[in-house]
Amino acid sequence: MSVYASSHPLVKHKVSLLRDAQISVKSFRELTKELSVLLTMEATTQLALENKPLTCWSGVISAPMLSEKQPTLVPILRAGLGMLDGALSILPCAKVSIVGLKRDEQTLQPISYYQNIVNDISERQAIIIDPMLATGGTALATINLLKSTGCTNIKAIFLVAAPEGIEVLQQAHSDVDLFIGAIDNELNEQGYILPGLGDAGDKIFGTL
Ligand code: URA
Repeated sequence: MSVYASSHPLVKHKVSLLRDAQISVKSFRELTKELSVLLTMEATTQLALENKPLTCWSGVISAPMLSEKQPTLVPILRAGLGMLDGALSILPCAKVSIVGLKRDEQTLQPISYYQNIVNDISERQAIIIDPMLATGGTALATINLLKSTGCTNIKAIFLVAAPEGIEVLQQAHSDVDLFIGAIDNELNEQGYILPGLGDAGDKIFGTL
């Protein structure tokens, strides 16, 4: 697994703005969208190209175009939905596979309560989008789910990640690359990232 912590100044600046305790829902949504664009750019630098004939104003040229099916974006409910518009703005033909996970109160393990995965996922790259990588439990369950449906090419984008969650994914899925806006210090006892953003889902949906 490769872990890419963005070094882009715009990413660093926008993550810092997201941390402001007084941030409005509007600003949180806008920044989440902007960061999703920037991180999706970073996560797609390896997409394969092939030259295809194209008639342009000066004649026929051999033009580099994406050679494979566009990725499927995989927002994890609910906070991942806040990143979807941004990612789709530069991958407008991407399919969307939605995963909903909740914690089983007996086992404390994430269980899937909703999944709608594109049926040709084995032919696509999957890009998981979720603002926060905390304990890693949800992301781990999502990767397991995607692999069980035949997906072999998985990347994941997070705005902020805790070292604990990165470690969990590294141990379990060394083939999955992570693209992260900022790697923070640690988790607190409630599983929140420090310094973190607070509850990203609540901030995106205004349910504070
Ligand atoms: N989910 C969040 O929204 N925030 C955290 O800090 C951890 C998980």
